[in-house]
Parts: sequence; C-alpha cells; structure tokens
Amino acid sequence: MAFRLTWIGHASLALETDGYQLLIDPYFSQNPSAQVDPATVSADYILVTHGHGDHIGDTVQIAERTGATVITNAEISGWLRKKGLKVHAQHIGGGFKHPFGYLKLTLALHGSGLPDGTYGGNPAGFLLTTNAGEKLYLAGDTGLFGDMKLIGEEGITLAVLPIGDNYTMGPDDALRAVKMLTPEFVIPIHYNTFGLIAQDPDAWAARVEAETNTKARVLKPGEQVVYP
Ligand code: NI
Ligand code: MN
Repeated sequence: MAFRLTWIGHASLALETDGYQLLIDPYFSQNPSAQVDPATVSADYILVTHGHGDHIGDTVQIAERTGATVITNAEISGWLRKKGLKVHAQHIGGGFKHPFGYLKLTLALHGSGLPDGTYGGNPAGFLLTTNAGEKLYLAGDTGLFGDMKLIGEEGITLAVLPIGDNYTMGPDDALRAVKMLTPEFVIPIHYNTFGLIAQDPDAWAARVEAETNTKARVLKPGEQVVYP
C-alpha cells in the first residue's frame, strides 16, 4: 500500500502512507458528518491548511494527547507553539522532506483567520510526494487560480478539491481546476456539510469523466481509497 486516504467528512482527511498516520484539517467534534472521536483518533502528523474553525478543528486537543507534530504556515504554527504543541512551520512554495514524504505548501485563494481572531497568515494547499513517488494535491479551501496549471505540471496522481461553492470553488470552477491539474484521480470535498454548500457530487463526477481523462471518486464520509 502506497497510501490509504479516508474522507472523514467536510475537508477532513486521514492519510496512511509508509506506516505514518496523517490527519488533514481534523474537524471532528463540531462536524455533523464526521464519525471520528478526537479523544481516541491516532496521529503522527497533523496538516492544517488554514486557520478557519472548520479546518483547525480539533487540532489542539488531538496534538496534545498524541504528541503529533502539526505542519502548517508560520503564523498558525506560532499560535500553536504558544499552546505548547510540537509544530513544523512551512510556507507557500516551500517543501521539506518529512519521514512520510516531501511536503510542499501551495497557493490557496481564501482567508486564514484563527477562531480567536488571531491573524493566521495566508491559507495554503498541500502537495505531497509520497516515499513511493505518488503526488497528492490537497487544494485546501480555495478559489480557482491559473497557477493550478503549474501544479499540474508536476504530474498529479490524486487531487482533492472543494466543490461546495459559496466559500470555495463550486462545481464549474472545480471542473476547470481538473482540466488544469490533469490528475489521474480526483475526489470532491467541502460540500453538503451545511445547506450553503449543498452540491450533487455524482453529477459533478459525471461531468469530470465526460470532459477529461481524470477518474472521479465520490466518497461517503468514512470511505477510503487505497492506491495503487
Ligand atoms: Ni476556510
Ligand atoms: Mn472551509
């Protein structure tokens, strides 16, 4: 198994790769679709795309209990460090070879304020090259931007994109994103958690497969994909 990716619901993901357990944007206790308990979930690393409450979620509680290292931008890292957590700060365009793979922060067009009003720097996405060489692009909360074409030039195995609209790309722009990224597979997230972001993921997946060579995988919260 090179990686196993579980959609926990909303923008929360669990990723197992090369024996490491990663959580991405662990928003569990307040997330109506998440079946994961922050009091028992395991984690070696927690990746946080930006400071909004539906992304930083239960990061503090989980990192305190598990001792997981939190990887996020410098501003959010500083906020977490003051709470006594183990952090690894990176920033947009910068990559680092972690034990689980090479992780680069990517551009995201969005906000990043923390729940207590602290400035959370710029939001980010993640581009992870696993130790087996697969490339996962986790866009984070973002609008469409043309530089997704540059990210696509890296050769993306799996892209995870928001399709909810209102706060992020909606279905039309997410389809344009797929055309720039040209991943092997795409998984839609950040929809149907609340009424404001209600979407039909199956209709979107059908459009992706009709108009591109990318395979779309629609997951239910709790479902996973294993690659290869
Ligand atoms: Ni957000
Ligand atoms: Mn969000």
